[in-house]
Order: sequence, then structure tokens, then C-alpha cells
Amino acid sequence: MTRKQRIGILISGRGSNMVSLIEAARAPDYPAEIACVLANRAQADGLTKARAAGVPAVAVDQTALESREAFEAALDAELKTFRVELIACAGFMRILSAAFVARWHDRMLNIHPSLLPAFKGLDTHARALQAGVKIAGCTVHVVRPEVDEGPIIAQAAVPVLTDDTPERLAARVLAAEHRLYPHALSLFLKSQMRTAGANLDDRQVSVNQEKALFWPPLS
Ligand code: GRF
Repeated sequence: MTRKQRIGILISGRGSNMVSLIEAARAPDYPAEIACVLANRAQADGLTKARAAGVPAVAVDQTALESREAFEAALDAELKTFRVELIACAGFMRILSAAFVARWHDRMLNIHPSLLPAFKGLDTHARALQAGVKIAGCTVHVVRPEVDEGPIIAQAAVPVLTDDTPERLAARVLAAEHRLYPHALSLFLKSQMRTAGANLDDRQVSVNQEKALFWPPLS
């Protein structure tokens, strides 16, 4: 097997997607290892969970850093310390500057709890219910400077049920997220999307469509 790529996970809170990535990366044949977890809030619960799983976890506390540049420089320094090759944002609630995103071009992924390009931004589940959609889901994509934009790697779909509340729908989508993110990261690392010279923006979905879509949802 080829060498595992070193992943840095960025979180802001609970870190349940982070846990799913840490667990997947334990498999000897998984193409990634989790080099570190970084949080922009010292109180992020995910930091404790990462340490309990034996993964180095560091708070880059945005409140202690006076400017966005200082915060992102501190983030970059930690990523360098842990020799991170690819970033996985997992519930990271801070918008990164275009300069930071450019430094990690095609080397930063994100998970969003909707079927992008629908329902970008916050309160996705309430807006999906308000819109009356019958299918919801989640997306793993390559990060671009615009929020929740970028080439889609994989999506998972779940049904919307008649008595859904935003909380119930969120829980159903989150269960799909936990399956999707490890799958999408693996697809990304293994696929030709990583080959030199590939222009991801010209190839929105470069991975096998069948593998990239879970419908019906995996149980
Ligand atoms: C997830 O729903 C993720 O898609 C969104 O924020 C939530 C984070 O949850 N960006 P967790 O911290 O991974 O538990």
C-alpha cells in the first residue's frame, strides 16, 4: 500500500465527524492518518475526544489572536508542525480567507449538511423543511474561497419525513455524514483527482458516480 497521507482536521465544537474520520483512519488499508486536530475554540468538546483517541489536539484560540491574519498564521504553523498534507474541515465554523484557501488549494475538504448547491450556509435543516424538499443529505467537497462552494466529491441522501423537525432531520443527516466523510476522503485520496495537473474545477465529479452517491442510504 502507498504511504498514508497526513490529515489535519479542523473543528469548532462537538467533533462527531472528526471521530468518524479518526476511527476510519485506524484501518491499515485506509489511505489517510490523522496527524492532528485543531480547534478555533479552546472549549471545543472535540479536542477532548481527539486526545482520548490518542490524536494530538491543539486549540488555536481565535479570541487570543488579534487579527484574522494572526489566527491563520498560527493555524498554518500548527499544520506545518504536524506535517499536514491535507485539511479536512469538520464542523469548522470560521470562514477562512481567500489567501489561506489558496495556500491549501485542492488540499482542503469540507462537509456540509445539505445536498449542495442547495441550502448553503447556516440553518440548513430548517430551510430544507421550509422549502418542502423530500430528500435531504450531505456533501463532501473541495474548499474554494466562497462559503460551501467547490468541486463535489460525494453526497449521501436521506429521506425527509412528514413529522420532521430540524433536530430530527439533522440527526438523520448527521448519521449519513459519519459514513460519507471517511468514504469521500478515501475516494479523493485514491482517485485520479489527486494526479498532477488535474483541474478539479473542470471536473466537478471526477470519481465514479455510483460510488459517490448513497441512495438508498446505507444502513
Ligand atoms: C455537521 O453537521 C457538519 O456538516 C456541519 O457542522 C456539523 C458539525 O458536527 N458543518 P460535528 O462537530 O462533526 O459533530
